[in-house]
Amino acid sequence: MRRSCLTNAVSGYNSCSFIAGAATDVGYEGLYQTNADIITPSEQKCFDIRGLPSSILGTYIIGGPAIFEYGGQAFTSVLDGFGKINRIEIRNGHACFATNMLQSSFWNSSIKAGHIAPGALFTETKPPRKCPFYNPACDMMAKSDNNWVNSVHLSGGGDKIILLSDTTTMIDYDISSMTVSGVHKFDDHMTKLFEVNALGSAHPHTDGHGGFIEFGVESGISDYVDIYTVDPSDPRARRLMARYSSKSSPYLHSFGVTANYAVIPHNINLEMAAMLESDGLLSKAMKGSFEGVNVVKLERAGASAPSDAITFHPNPFYHVHVVNSFENASGVVFDVSTYQDTPFSGPMTDIGAARTKSVRDAEKLRGVIKRYHFGLVGDQKGVATEEVLSLPGRTTDFPKINQNFAGKPYCIYYAVEWFHDDRTFGSMAVLKHNLCTGTRTYWFREDWYPSEAIFVPNGIGESEGVLLLVVLNGRMQTSHFVVADATDMHTLAEFQLPVRIPFTGHAEFFQGVFSSVRGVANTSDATIVI
Ligand SMILES: [Fe+2]
Repeated sequence: MRRSCLTNAVSGYNSCSFIAGAATDVGYEGLYQTNADIITPSEQKCFDIRGLPSSILGTYIIGGPAIFEYGGQAFTSVLDGFGKINRIEIRNGHACFATNMLQSSFWNSSIKAGHIAPGALFTETKPPRKCPFYNPACDMMAKSDNNWVNSVHLSGGGDKIILLSDTTTMIDYDISSMTVSGVHKFDDHMTKLFEVNALGSAHPHTDGHGGFIEFGVESGISDYVDIYTVDPSDPRARRLMARYSSKSSPYLHSFGVTANYAVIPHNINLEMAAMLESDGLLSKAMKGSFEGVNVVKLERAGASAPSDAITFHPNPFYHVHVVNSFENASGVVFDVSTYQDTPFSGPMTDIGAARTKSVRDAEKLRGVIKRYHFGLVGDQKGVATEEVLSLPGRTTDFPKINQNFAGKPYCIYYAVEWFHDDRTFGSMAVLKHNLCTGTRTYWFREDWYPSEAIFVPNGIGESEGVLLLVVLNGRMQTSHFVVADATDMHTLAEFQLPVRIPFTGHAEFFQGVFSSVRGVANTSDATIVI
């Protein structure tokens, strides 16, 4: 296999491109194989990374499923695997790594039972779990708190973060001890009488003041969509920013927020009857049904009454991750990774498909970044337009931007690309796509499998900063922490982690947030390539 790095002056396409043949994707299966190794905070392994930009100080958190079978049963969806949280703390010229199982109720109950415990899953285990006759809805009744998907930090929250999934159950987590403190409880009165909060989003937005903006669904007599904010001064209270009536319970993993609007695609419904019938299987309850994209005005000072959302009807699409949203003179721009069918199946999530090269390479579904414009004024009012941004033959997802440009006009997004060689699912790269210049630049190594790359700013320019990512070396089955220069994507520093990390969810870097556990042990040199 040979590669060449070329820049096409016409298209601006800049990539290390394959010349002949398909990628081998050796060891890709390692992303879907168990690693139960634990390194507690007191046993953390540290690496010398002097030479990195001095502003890169804080704690990197990335979670993911790490155990895929237990007690003679195996998960069938990667989204159901028992979570593990990985922590890399960067300070004093060192990066210190620790990793611990996410001690969710689901994990603790499973340990106690000696097999995979009751709980709502995307797909059933093999062999399947069975509820006892005296509690036939045991999976529905169990707490869903396997929240390895994403995390958020409230300003002033010290070493405490909140772990998130697509439910309204948020988990308080102590990054010093790497333990769960409990469910994050709200003691407000936001939820309407006779309604229950059923669904949330794993992707809150910054509110610009150290808090976050979240999405929730209320189900009961009627269905309502809530957009609310959580302020760091009162983290137990949600303040409503918008509420609108919905004819169904939309399931959505992410949504868009601009200065004045929320953008909410309704393309999957969670049908509670199907959920009950299947005893808590999300794959049975999630029904693809494109009902349009709702744009609703946000009341930053607090909403007191339901709003009227404006519904747009572009060509139907499904989505997982929003790239960014912003307002222009005529409406709202909404950039999102879209799919032509429901995306929570296939080799991205199905463990059997992911482990089988012939099956994953035959996957037809692609995640394509598209830009939508939803007109709000003048002759554009009510009009939806769309254009393709990413390369349609590849899957481009797990987008990240410079958060200083969140909700604002921007040029650059970073994302993970599958089918980087246009034919091999496991051919993966990290893409930098400058929408203003049309250039694409990549971080790529053959048979290496990158996580989401999070951007940490180190200046005022949009690409002034670094990307932090965890990468699996497929041939060696070792995981590495990589710091890449976000301007040209070259590697600034890297070191091999002491454990292999399988599939990962979303990374966050909490600037200036540190563990209260002191002491540096087992220091090794990282490779500094500056
Ligand atoms: Fe996500």
